[in-house]
Amino acid sequence: MREFVAVLDFGSQYAQLISRRIREFGVYCEILPHDISCADLRAMAPKAVVLSGGPASVLEDDHPGIDPEIFTLGIPVLGICYGLQITADVLGGFLERGTAREYGPATIQVDKPGALFSGLPENLDVWMSHGDHVSRPPKGFSILAHTSSCAVASMGDEHRKIYAVQFHPEVVHTPMGVDILRNFLFGIAQCSGGWTMKGFIEESITNIRTQVGNARVICGMSGGVDSAVVAALINKAIGKQMTAIFVDNGVLRSGEAEEIRSTFTEVYPLNLDTVDASDTFLDALRGVTEPEEKRKIIGRTFIDVFYEEAKRIGGVDFLAQGTLYPDVIESRSAKGGPSATIKSHHNVGGLPADLKFKLIEPLKELFKDEVRVLGKELGLPDTILKRQPFPGPGLAVRILGEVTRENVAILQEADKRVQEEIRRYEEYDDIWQAFAVLLPVKSVGVMGDERTYANVIAIRAVSSLDGMTADWVKLPYDLLARISTRIINEVRGVNRVVYDISSKPPSTIEWE
Ligand code: XMP
Repeated sequence: MREFVAVLDFGSQYAQLISRRIREFGVYCEILPHDISCADLRAMAPKAVVLSGGPASVLEDDHPGIDPEIFTLGIPVLGICYGLQITADVLGGFLERGTAREYGPATIQVDKPGALFSGLPENLDVWMSHGDHVSRPPKGFSILAHTSSCAVASMGDEHRKIYAVQFHPEVVHTPMGVDILRNFLFGIAQCSGGWTMKGFIEESITNIRTQVGNARVICGMSGGVDSAVVAALINKAIGKQMTAIFVDNGVLRSGEAEEIRSTFTEVYPLNLDTVDASDTFLDALRGVTEPEEKRKIIGRTFIDVFYEEAKRIGGVDFLAQGTLYPDVIESRSAKGGPSATIKSHHNVGGLPADLKFKLIEPLKELFKDEVRVLGKELGLPDTILKRQPFPGPGLAVRILGEVTRENVAILQEADKRVQEEIRRYEEYDDIWQAFAVLLPVKSVGVMGDERTYANVIAIRAVSSLDGMTADWVKLPYDLLARISTRIINEVRGVNRVVYDISSKPPSTIEWE
């Protein structure tokens, strides 16, 4: 059984960050619901348990709880923020409601380094974010650190190996937080830390071979990072038993289909099947203006194309998907967990309930940045790994209103100029997504001696860590000017360019 650490999620925005930090030490980690039973947790045999923070107060009724038996398993526990408070509450300590919320930087003084603060200075800068605080630790615990306003900044019971910190060691604002986590994982919980991408690849290859047997697999390839990595991984496991299907849905970026075809036939050869279904998609989209309806039509048409191709190939039992770990956690929390987040991943229209394929989801344990590392390990080129996310429904959600062939052609031309200019920008790598949107509202312009009455193009460039929140990028004026001049001069049907200066929330990244 592979070594792993369980993070119990009490609804913290940082639960995923804690998990990633632990994995960065080469220790595999999973996020589990806070109310998992002790029996279920014991069956999974974690090497250690981390209790995340959370927005609730243990002094309120109906706060997220924990099975108290977990503290008797003999498995080392580290409580963080709310995790400290629930530990104190369950094990018989005292809590007080704070008069004010303490949020921001603080300096702790370590009173008793023990194993948790071993090798660290006496004063540490940390990041606090809490309302309540523990006034007296439970029996058996000593105070390990305090601040001027927080008597129990850390507590521990060395005998039972239960530790807790009121601050957040996982955030960058706690510069020595990683050292504290390292002390917990390796010093206290005695993890060995051998989880690597190489190991992950080997394990996945064995699993895929076992799961698939002699059947065939199709893998829908969108041109994005996730599906490319899925295809590369399955290709490594079963070679030609997998067919990667790249569908030209008629709403791709200019040159996209050709780029994917040449990458996966010449640079990184795979068993690739390219299907030009643009007429089918564009016909199905005719007259449709409602965004979710567009998404549904595109999703359904993709599945129809996959069925057709599967029939042609024969013996296909499996469809591979690039589901990532955050999608798994989100769909779990949507079913009642406390970590309710805005959905970042939109599965193109969702899969039909009566899908005729079994699913293979080899990335469902990984975070997005780990997928890139895996892709690199598998030898995928940077042109694929550094791609900006592109929505499954493509330009259809960047053409407001009806998607016509004419509108697609205008947007492709405008977007091509945005891409060409913005790739030369020195801070290009910091941009999450940059693209053009077609607003089919006509405005008046003048070109030469003639008045024009043509479309508007909006430019959008955002920075983001995960697509859940985003800021508009302050692109230099001369870059914006070049983009605007080129689009207006070179793209027929456009006489005005505007720049979108809205952040998410309250706006979204896409316009539809
Ligand atoms: P929003 O517009 O919701 O977008 O702020 C967040 C991220 O999701 C992408 N996006 C989609 N991806 N199918 C996808 O595969 C979709 O229907 C879809 N809608 C938005 C968007 O590009 C951004 O990265």
